[in-house]
Amino acid sequence: MSSSSQLPTRPVQSLEMGRYQWGQSPDAAPAPDVKDPEPLALASYGLVKNYSKGKLQVNVLQSVDFEIRQGEFQAIIGQSGSGKSTLLHLLATLDEADEGEIFFEGNRIDNLPASSRDMLRNRYLGMVFQFYHLLPELNMLENVLMPLMIRHGVFRYWSQKRANTKRAKYLLDLVGLSHRLNHKPRQLSGGEMQRAAIARALIANPRVLLADEPTGNLDRKTGADIMEILRCLNQEQKLTIVMVTHDHAIASQADHTVQLVEGRMESCTSNDV
Ligand SMILES: Nc1ncnc2c1ncn2[C@@H]1O[C@H](COP(=O)(O)OP(=O)(O)OP(=O)(O)O)[C@@H](O)[C@H]1O
Ligand SMILES: [Mg+2]
Repeated sequence: MSSSSQLPTRPVQSLEMGRYQWGQSPDAAPAPDVKDPEPLALASYGLVKNYSKGKLQVNVLQSVDFEIRQGEFQAIIGQSGSGKSTLLHLLATLDEADEGEIFFEGNRIDNLPASSRDMLRNRYLGMVFQFYHLLPELNMLENVLMPLMIRHGVFRYWSQKRANTKRAKYLLDLVGLSHRLNHKPRQLSGGEMQRAAIARALIANPRVLLADEPTGNLDRKTGADIMEILRCLNQEQKLTIVMVTHDHAIASQADHTVQLVEGRMESCTSNDV
């Protein structure tokens, strides 16, 4: 896949979930002074995901509809084990659903070949994993640079190494890790690895950031600093952000909050930031 235009397309009937108009007739005439909504950035419809544990089947997601518009900042909350990480991994095409469809900017992506999904993630989706997934043999600077090494290939990466390194250092400084460039993951605290994972997710200028508990291991002050960075990226660079958290105070800093309960999106609130 060399561009998103090669993705299979299909018109998407929006649920208007981001505007909380569940059940509203699509034929209803819009109010005359209502601004057109931004296009959908990422959406899922009818997502089902089950895991088998021996003879037991765990029904994690039972028909999840989710929509986020370009430039929105949405929080997904839910109890431990409710399926938040599972949903984020499906949205990022890191795992496959048993049923349902996922769309990125109106293009269906869940049925793409693995190589196309890898490229889509590398170019357009930034992922902050709950448990970081930093490469243990690389230092922080190298970990943050890894998405660009994958994207550009050896020759182009080396020809742009100076600019790439400058950006990686800038991002590590942004998350407060400029003094840890040469440290390996085992030499860092959980919170430091979490911040490095955020820098890595941002290095390739993603269109959507999927962040799984990005403040989960941080003290209040550092967590507030990270939220400030995310809000700034959202407001000034219009980065679309899907953030999983179990912390209602953190969630309230997003534009909207949706809640996963027993495998379904059960409620939504619009937050006054
Ligand atoms: N690979 C797997 N195999 C079997 N069961 C799994 C697997 N991954 C997740 N599960 C189960 O799916 C359920 C949802 O897991 P998930 O990690 O998505 O929850 P979560 O909402 O992110 O929880 P937390 O807030 O603790 O991170 C859990 O019951 C978990 O045990
Ligand atoms: Mg989780």
